[in-house]
Amino acid sequence: MTELSKLQDELTGRARAAADLAALEAVRVEALGKSGSVSELLKSLGKMSPDERRERGPRINGLRDAVADAVAARRGELEAAELDARLASERVDLSLPAPPQRRGRVHPTMQTLDEMIAIFADMGFSLAEGPDIEDDFHNFTALNFPPKHPAREMHDTFWLAADAAGERKLLRTHTSPVQVRVMRGGQDKLPAWIANGQAPPIRVIVPGRVYRSDSDATHTPMFHQLEGLVIDRAIHMGHLKWTLDAFTRRFFETEAVVTRFRPHHFPFTEPSAEMDVQCDRSGGSVKIGQGADWLEILGGGMVHPKVLANCGLDPDEWQGFAFGLGVDRLGMLKYGMPDLRDMFSADVRWLDHYGFSAFQAPNPATGLS
Ligand code: DAH
Repeated sequence: MTELSKLQDELTGRARAAADLAALEAVRVEALGKSGSVSELLKSLGKMSPDERRERGPRINGLRDAVADAVAARRGELEAAELDARLASERVDLSLPAPPQRRGRVHPTMQTLDEMIAIFADMGFSLAEGPDIEDDFHNFTALNFPPKHPAREMHDTFWLAADAAGERKLLRTHTSPVQVRVMRGGQDKLPAWIANGQAPPIRVIVPGRVYRSDSDATHTPMFHQLEGLVIDRAIHMGHLKWTLDAFTRRFFETEAVVTRFRPHHFPFTEPSAEMDVQCDRSGGSVKIGQGADWLEILGGGMVHPKVLANCGLDPDEWQGFAFGLGVDRLGMLKYGMPDLRDMFSADVRWLDHYGFSAFQAPNPATGLS
């Protein structure tokens, strides 16, 4: 047996016998590494005479291939064995309890809003939206707030810095400016997403965020309103009362609700009223439909003729009613949250407790909540 075949037997034998990947790597380095025994033989080819090289070259190359093949084959075996061992030891125990998964909840404000929308949609109202950043015209002037009138201050408006043209925009203080946008229709240049301009008859609700510089247990700088607007030829106060009475009964899911209209003043309605719901506030929680207390839940009235005219509608031909409901406040009443500020503190524990399942969309036929 020649020197070379002896070396080949020794190296391939050690490769085949390697107990693990580390031992195998040691054999590979010893033979094929930079100064390994086979590498040295390959280097020696350079110093040989052409005849000698012709004779020994193929045999040394053959040795290198045989050792490399043996190392690769053993590596495959060892890796497969390692995988088998892992598959055997890392078994998944399907009987173990799954780690708890935090599931999102629907915020009470959004739940309340969805319930309100479901009720009004069932009555035939459609949805309209407007921008949160408004101008003085839509938020105040077109709604018949006189210039410099204290009613403007009453709203604690957040004003934005003046733009290049010197105009100061504002964060809308109520959803009522969307009434104006709906009635003025094509007369205003609107972003494409505000597809709310329409000719009468009009029957829309407008849900949205509103902003006032105010903060205590029943006021937050941002809250939600739902505006309603109905314009037609013979709409009167009776329609307003029926609509809001019917809404309140369906929202609180009881026929026992008692409502009361009180005269009030809004610049954009005449006559104007506020509506209260009878409730019992003794004993810490609020019970609707009983007791001696009254809670104000909305403002409303007949749209002022000047507002109709400001929006390009002839007050001798068209008339209608409008109302504005506080969404968060209604949610607090129905679901018993004591402090409005908690609604927007983004505390997941609070949301877990007061939130709603995303799998039960409010539906007037199958149940609101
Ligand atoms: N915009 C009023 C507010 O924020 C609420 C309101 C009152 C809306 C009367 C109306 C309305 O549409 O007719 O206080």
